[in-house]
Amino acid sequence: MDQYVQKVNQAVSYIKKQFGSTDFKPEAALVLGSGLDKIADLIEPIATIPYKDIPNFPITTVAGHEGLLIIGYLEGVPIIGLKGRKHYYEVANENNGMEQVIFPVHVVASLGCKLYIATNAAGGLNPRFSIGDLMIIRSHLDIFMQNPLLGPHHDFGNNFFFQPQNELYDRKISELFRSDNQDIHEGVYACLTGRTYESAADSTALRVLGVDAVGMSTVPEIIIAANRGMKTLGISTITNVIAADGTNATNHEEVVAILNSRETKAKLLFAYQAFFQKLNQSLKAKPKPKRR
Ligand code: HPA
Repeated sequence: MDQYVQKVNQAVSYIKKQFGSTDFKPEAALVLGSGLDKIADLIEPIATIPYKDIPNFPITTVAGHEGLLIIGYLEGVPIIGLKGRKHYYEVANENNGMEQVIFPVHVVASLGCKLYIATNAAGGLNPRFSIGDLMIIRSHLDIFMQNPLLGPHHDFGNNFFFQPQNELYDRKISELFRSDNQDIHEGVYACLTGRTYESAADSTALRVLGVDAVGMSTVPEIIIAANRGMKTLGISTITNVIAADGTNATNHEEVVAILNSRETKAKLLFAYQAFFQKLNQSLKAKPKPKRR
């Protein structure tokens, strides 16, 4: 068997053991980006596992990314919470660095998650956006990054070789997130490698390309989540607004400080709690497949 697939399977077996005697079947994976770890407080855990204890799992190295897997229920929805992610900029020079970025996505897919939810912090390019706003990702621009499907094809049994991208960012689930909250934006997210923030010319060019928010993550994960047959949802929290002349004056400390502010935290917790309540209702409303 493909060595990469084997490594994913080892991680999956280890995590499944922590489910213990429960009949836990995860429905969704929720990846919490920079400073977004407070959302994990909404999860009623049945187990928590540091990434370092999971065989082959990439260790996070950035402040605000604790590296903790939380298995539990959020408003009744069985989920795998991932407190922290690996970014491409952490591993770009390593052999198969991108494979580390997408490793957790394969793991949650193999654990049976049907929905992949990526959260991130992003800079606002759209002049209507304010600090602390939320943006549902409608589509993304992936032309600045290494495509995560480059290189050897890892065959998980039912994943695409050539992949259409029409089903990214599930409409119904995005609508569920927005509901009647008109303060939540929708837009296009672009992923750049970082670790630089954008130059004035970068930001001006991104605006011409129709980008509403810019960050350093999420896109490779979403591509792989779709590759493994999961539905996807992407939510950006706008932590800084990029000036009309393209100046981006932010830094990591500011990004984390905004996410830790009482106002943003309250807004995030409210939005995610409401979303998971609705998700739970919609899952319950679905007819269960008949047993044979
Ligand atoms: N650019 C890129 N990544 C980011 C930004 C930004 O302005 N803000 C938060 N993450």
